[in-house]
Amino acid sequence: MNPVDYNLRGPVAVLTLNKPPVNGLGLALRSGILAGLDRALADPAVTAIVLTGGEKIFSGGADVKEFGTPKSSTSPNLPDVIRALEQSAKPVVAAIAGFALGGGLELALGCHFRVANKDATLGLPEVKLGLLPGAGGTQRLPRAIGLEAALNMIVSGAPQKAASFEGTALVNELTEANVVDAAVAFAERAAKEPGALPRLRDVKVPAVGADAFLQFARNNVKTAAKGLPAPLACVECVADSVTQPFDEGLKRERAAFFALMATPESRAARHVFAAERAAGKLPDIPGDTPLRPIKTVGVIGAGTMGGGITINFLNAGTPVVLLETAQAALDRGLATIRRNYENSVKRGRLKQEQVEQRMALITPTLDYTAFEDVDLVIEAVFEQMDVKEKVFSQLDAVCKPGAILASNTSYLDINQIASFTKRPQDVLGLHFFSPANIMKLLEIVRGEKTANDVMATALALGKQIKKVAVVSGVCDGFIGNRMLARYGAAANAMVVAGGAPQQVDKAMERFGYAMGPFRVGDLAGLDIGWATRKRKAAEAGVPHDPTIADKICEMDRFGQKSGAGWYRYEPGMREPQADPLIDQLIADYRSAKGVTPRKVSDEEVVERCIYALVNEGARILAEGIAVRASDVDLVYLNGYGFPARRGGPMCYANEVGLANVVRALRRFAAEPGADASWEPAPLLIQLAEEGKGF
Ligand code: NAI
Repeated sequence: MNPVDYNLRGPVAVLTLNKPPVNGLGLALRSGILAGLDRALADPAVTAIVLTGGEKIFSGGADVKEFGTPKSSTSPNLPDVIRALEQSAKPVVAAIAGFALGGGLELALGCHFRVANKDATLGLPEVKLGLLPGAGGTQRLPRAIGLEAALNMIVSGAPQKAASFEGTALVNELTEANVVDAAVAFAERAAKEPGALPRLRDVKVPAVGADAFLQFARNNVKTAAKGLPAPLACVECVADSVTQPFDEGLKRERAAFFALMATPESRAARHVFAAERAAGKLPDIPGDTPLRPIKTVGVIGAGTMGGGITINFLNAGTPVVLLETAQAALDRGLATIRRNYENSVKRGRLKQEQVEQRMALITPTLDYTAFEDVDLVIEAVFEQMDVKEKVFSQLDAVCKPGAILASNTSYLDINQIASFTKRPQDVLGLHFFSPANIMKLLEIVRGEKTANDVMATALALGKQIKKVAVVSGVCDGFIGNRMLARYGAAANAMVVAGGAPQQVDKAMERFGYAMGPFRVGDLAGLDIGWATRKRKAAEAGVPHDPTIADKICEMDRFGQKSGAGWYRYEPGMREPQADPLIDQLIADYRSAKGVTPRKVSDEEVVERCIYALVNEGARILAEGIAVRASDVDLVYLNGYGFPARRGGPMCYANEVGLANVVRALRRFAAEPGADASWEPAPLLIQLAEEGKGF
């Protein structure tokens, strides 16, 4: 397939980018544009050129797969192509329908004219990948729409509709008709105009007031960027459009682009971008697997999770049958959902009539027969196997054949839950995170017998309710909570060794977490972990040896909800206060265990907590519980507050170097009395020895 189609429309040559899915500007497309341009320039019958893409996409920009490979800088590179278009002696008109993003918009900015559909979307989102527009965008956009508008667009990365640029040089003509027809007519007229062709490079950005504005922008962006390098680099390049000659501005922009490309922040952002695209795919399930239709959903349990899960579907316009054991619990659940929506009304995010529309999608019930027609049921009842058993055998009795039966369990064995039905192929885990209407993560837990089309349907459903869906195999706690257990244990061990909870929290907050592990524990409630540890001890038939957190629970301190946990909370306040009572409890615990407290450094806290995650992540990967390392990263970024700029624990380990991680783990494992979990995972050792990353 030719990446650029060449057609004549009278005297106008129409070059159509034809590289699905997004007309990514890889080497083949770049060469194709130049070949088309040269052909048009060489044909004396051609007087003008139109450059266009598909009806839904002009171009999504650079081919991200080429980033960092030799291909991305092989000539012709994007600036070469843009320069050639700009220098063309025959007028070049960009005809834009759908999206023109990043390099796609820069390409259009290199044309002499732009004709766009009113609802076309234009943007320079590079900053979201820790980059800046590196093919003239920072120099040409201010010349097209002015300094302030360009700076806002480039620093935010937010796209805008073409119609909002009416009257600027960014769009010479807006149309609601066929954009190629309009552009061909425009090009024919332009070819007849005498005089030099307009080029954005020849425009001067007005300098009046620019200094003061740029200083203001620098201050604002510096605060908002919180140390990320790309937004400030964007400001400096846009500033060059005022203070530097065009070619010098271009040179500086290119240098700044490559400098950003080499930062860990940009590597992390690009890693996450690729991770999100990979997560929706399973190697053994074809992309065209037929899906089961999901038109109505049942939710069991209207508690913390059931309520939040319900809201997801209501927001997507899907009717929900909500079941509880008693009318009072049902009423409480409905009232909580309504209150949630009312708060959105107060904040101006929702209209009252929308609240009513969404609430009307709920069918409350106490009776399982209401599930006869639903396509999917998600259970969010108490975390006890006997309760789950009752629920699933009832579902098996009433649900229609082919209905998908899901559990929101945090830890329990999905295979065992599936065995309570005669249709284990229809059973899987859909593990939401609290608050379920806000948290982005959805772990889709694949049982031994879960059917392929059930998995494919669940992945599609994740997209529909705007989640980042990651597939996990069955194990205790799945990907996220299994790793969290190691992270929590490492943080606890730091306190036992001699650190204070406040120190551990501060160290992790400096690493980038919004809250350290003990503040999170107080927020989430300490009683959940306490119950889990007691259950696990009972299951293993060993006496429960209480941790410090368990001893805190024994004092009826469950965290913020009871006014105290690891910290004290003044009534109505969320700010944690250190508590001498807890210091004493910790000191008593250490002496009971015969531990002489030592000084622990912030670096050690971070190393232990993060490498504990990495080591467990490596085991999860080796066991096939996670399909790929980047899935583990997505779980941690979207469900556990891992600092976004670090790209997830596995990405961070790659940055540190796996050999360094292994050395540290060996050091921890060699300490007297060290927990066996510090032994580096075989996969980690293997990759480190091969000099590879995850
Ligand atoms: P919750 O205690 O807030 O709500 C459970 C609800 O289920 C209650 O309203 C109860 O009346 C109802 N219920 C109990 N047995 C029932 C039955 N047989 N039929 C119908 N309704 C029944 O509990 P929460 O926190 O919502 O947890 C529910 C499930 O979600 C558990 O499996 C839990 O492990 C899991 N989960 C919890 C998370 C959390 O942060 N709270 C996060 C992710 C999963």
